[in-house]
Amino acid sequence: TANTRELSNGTEIPVLGLGVWQVEDGAQTERAVSWALEAGYRLIDTAQAYRNETSVGKAIRESGIPREEIFLTTKFYPGGKDARVEAEKSLERLGTEYLDLYLIHWPQGGPTWAWPGMEAAVEAGLTKGIGISNFGADEIQELSKVATVQPAVNQIQFSPFEYRAGLVAAGDDANIVSQAYSPLGTGRHLDGPVVARLAEATGHTPAQVLIRWAIQKGLSVIPKSTHQDRIIENFNVFDFELDDAAIADLDTLDTTHRTADALSSSGKWWS
Ligand code: A2P
Repeated sequence: TANTRELSNGTEIPVLGLGVWQVEDGAQTERAVSWALEAGYRLIDTAQAYRNETSVGKAIRESGIPREEIFLTTKFYPGGKDARVEAEKSLERLGTEYLDLYLIHWPQGGPTWAWPGMEAAVEAGLTKGIGISNFGADEIQELSKVATVQPAVNQIQFSPFEYRAGLVAAGDDANIVSQAYSPLGTGRHLDGPVVARLAEATGHTPAQVLIRWAIQKGLSVIPKSTHQDRIIENFNVFDFELDDAAIADLDTLDTTHRTADALSSSGKWWS
C-alpha cells in the first residue's frame, strides 16, 4: 500500500511507526506499544540504548498480531564491540526470531568499523535489513564505498525546524530511505504560529501537521508518545494532505538550511 516504502533490501517499511526513546522499561513501554498496535501501527522502533527491548517484545507477543505483520527495528549501541553478537542479545531480549531492521545508532568511532558485524547479522538471518542513524552525508558516502550490503535506512532528527533537505538528498542518492525521529521536536515544535494556523486550516492537530509534513517529504516517521490519545492522534494522518502552499510555509521554518548542519547529523552529540 501507499503507507509503506520499499527498502533496497526488498522489504516494505511503514511510513509511520511508534518510537520508544525515553519510554520507561516495564509497564510504560508495554502499554505504549500495545496501544500503538491496537491503533493500527505496524512499525515499532527501539534500541539497545533505550533499555526497553524486553517490554517491546512482550507487548508485541501479547498483541497476538503475527510477527511477520510487524516491522521491528532496534539499534546497535556503538559502545558494544560486535554488532552481530549484540543483535543476538537483542533478539533474546525481544523474544523474537528476527529483526526487520538493525541500525547503527550513531557513528561513534567512525562510520565503517561496525559494518562488517552488521552484515554478519544479515548473513546469520538475525535481521532482514541493516542501516544507520545519525549519519551525515560524508559518513554515508564513506560507508557506501566499503559496504557489501548497502545501508537501507538512515534515521535522522527531522522536522520543519530541522529540515536537512541536503542530508535526505544524500540518502536518496545512495538508495537510502531516510527516517525521521523527533518529528515533533520532542514536543517543542507543537506551539508555533505557522503550525497552529495550518492545523486549524486543515482541521487537524499540530502533531498531525508535523507528521504529515515529514511523510509528504518521503520519510518514514516515528513520533513518540506514552499517552493513548496521542498515540491514536499521531496515527490519524492518512485522511488529509498538506497542499503545496502549506508545505512551503512549513519549509520556511528550517533553522539548518545553508549551514553545514543541512548535510550533517545534528551537532555530533555522541563524540
Ligand atoms: P508524551 O510521551 O508524554 O505523550 P518527538 O516524537 O518529536 O520526540 O516528540 C515526543 C514528545 O511529544 C513527547 O514529549 C510526547 O509526550 C509529545 N507528544 C507526542 N505526541 C503528541 C501529541 N499528539 N500532542 C502533544 N504532544 C505529543
